Amino acid sequence: MQNQTVKKQELETNKVKILVIEDEMSVRLGISCTLEGAGYKAKTADDGIDGIRLFEKENFDIVVTDLRLPGADGIEVLKSVKSLSPDTGVIVITAFANVKTAVEAMKEGAYDYISKPFDPAELLIVIDRFLKHRGLELENIILKEQIRERRQFEHIIGISPVMQTIFNTIAVVARTDSSVMIYGESGTGKELAANAIHNLSPRKDKPFIKINCAAIPETLLESELFGHEKGAFTGALQRRKGKFEAAHSGTIFFDEIGDMPLNLQAKLLRVLETHNFERLGGNEILTVDIRTIYATRKNLKDEVKAGNFREDLYYRINVLPVTLPPLRERKEDIPLLAEHFMKIFGEKVGKPDLTVSPAAMERLSAYSYPGNVRELKHAIEMVATLCTGNVIESCCLPPEIRGTDKKYVPLICDALPLAERVRMFEREVIAHVLEETDGKKKEAAKILHISRETLWRKLRELGFPVSSSDFED
Ligand SMILES: Nc1ncnc2c1ncn2[C@@H]1O[C@H](COP(=O)(O)OP(=O)(O)OP(=O)(O)O)[C@@H](O)[C@H]1O
Ligand SMILES: [Mg+2]
Repeated sequence: MQNQTVKKQELETNKVKILVIEDEMSVRLGISCTLEGAGYKAKTADDGIDGIRLFEKENFDIVVTDLRLPGADGIEVLKSVKSLSPDTGVIVITAFANVKTAVEAMKEGAYDYISKPFDPAELLIVIDRFLKHRGLELENIILKEQIRERRQFEHIIGISPVMQTIFNTIAVVARTDSSVMIYGESGTGKELAANAIHNLSPRKDKPFIKINCAAIPETLLESELFGHEKGAFTGALQRRKGKFEAAHSGTIFFDEIGDMPLNLQAKLLRVLETHNFERLGGNEILTVDIRTIYATRKNLKDEVKAGNFREDLYYRINVLPVTLPPLRERKEDIPLLAEHFMKIFGEKVGKPDLTVSPAAMERLSAYSYPGNVRELKHAIEMVATLCTGNVIESCCLPPEIRGTDKKYVPLICDALPLAERVRMFEREVIAHVLEETDGKKKEAAKILHISRETLWRKLRELGFPVSSSDFED
């Protein structure tokens, strides 16, 4: 056991390279012998200029330099070493009582100094201290990196095995420069995943530009992407840079890529293949360096088959596919997500201790969430706002989550004030009648003995989705 420890230490010491710059031959040889004896690799130079040259050619972990040297003095050596390799430790040797220069050297970034004459063991102690300090610094950097990495995922909640695998995949794909294609139903967290990929990538400090291909009309989408020159089309009063230019050296996220019009798909493919494009109405060829991430709720393969999506573009962008599963397939995540959103919305509405009763959590976990995480988030937001008290009971949950079996026998929350209980009850009754009448408002109003106008007003007040056409004959 002990042997192993010694061997490991020796191996580590062997890797450490030290440059000794000292003009006095006896001192130079003395130091170099001591270092070699302790298992370090030592090289020597007898003047400042030679020392700097040697350092420029080779990398050293530590430089031990005298301050008074022919050629360049110790301070010049120190400055050159630090500007070339800030991580290299510099230990300066000062003539006895020349503390002033030693202080100057420390200010310039020397790790420590020793005064002549010195015992070689003293130098070994300083070297050992530096190596330990460097080890700790490295550990610190690694720790910080790990914390940063975890923070990127902090906003994506998931303990289910499938989400854990996705976190790992995201961490791996983030480090590459390849295209990532994120699939998933609406509300599964595709945009969050895209953010995480960018934030964990080497391009994290460069721009992250998003474009939603479904939300912008075709003609606008093109100028949004490529930018335009003044006068390129009516209304183009100035030159405008597009998203490609804005994303240069960073990442561009094409949300809902499945909705990109065919004609633009061809143009996008050209940019991906050549890295070149022109602004609309311009003839200057611009070159961009971008990493691309895509998301879609559609099955792109089916879209290719249906002729809505170019096959060549599909192969070009479907390099690293990541599929986010619907929430109903990872129910283990529901309690954690619910708590996460309760914390957010609870704090927002001044109820930082908001919790869910076990029965309500059971209902939340049993529901199938066609709108996925977004639906859960909105449900919690709504109950956090509506529910008085600090505990969310099942009866506070939206009827679809509470369960269809209990639709007409509302459990009125004991914790709610009268007006709110009445309101909930009224909502339940109306919902039930609408279900019975297949959503026919005229019939529902008749059953409820109210006018259609009153029903329309109540529906709006109680947050039902309505449009005025619902009340046309
Ligand atoms: N795992 C998760 N942890 C925490 N919040 C999440 C998670 N997944 C989704 N959300 C939240 O749910 C909402 C929807 O997520 P997001 O916009 O990323 O989904 P999407 O898949 O892009 O949906 P769409 O296809 O409708 O655009 C966001 O408010 C997001 O913050
Ligand atoms: Mg989205």
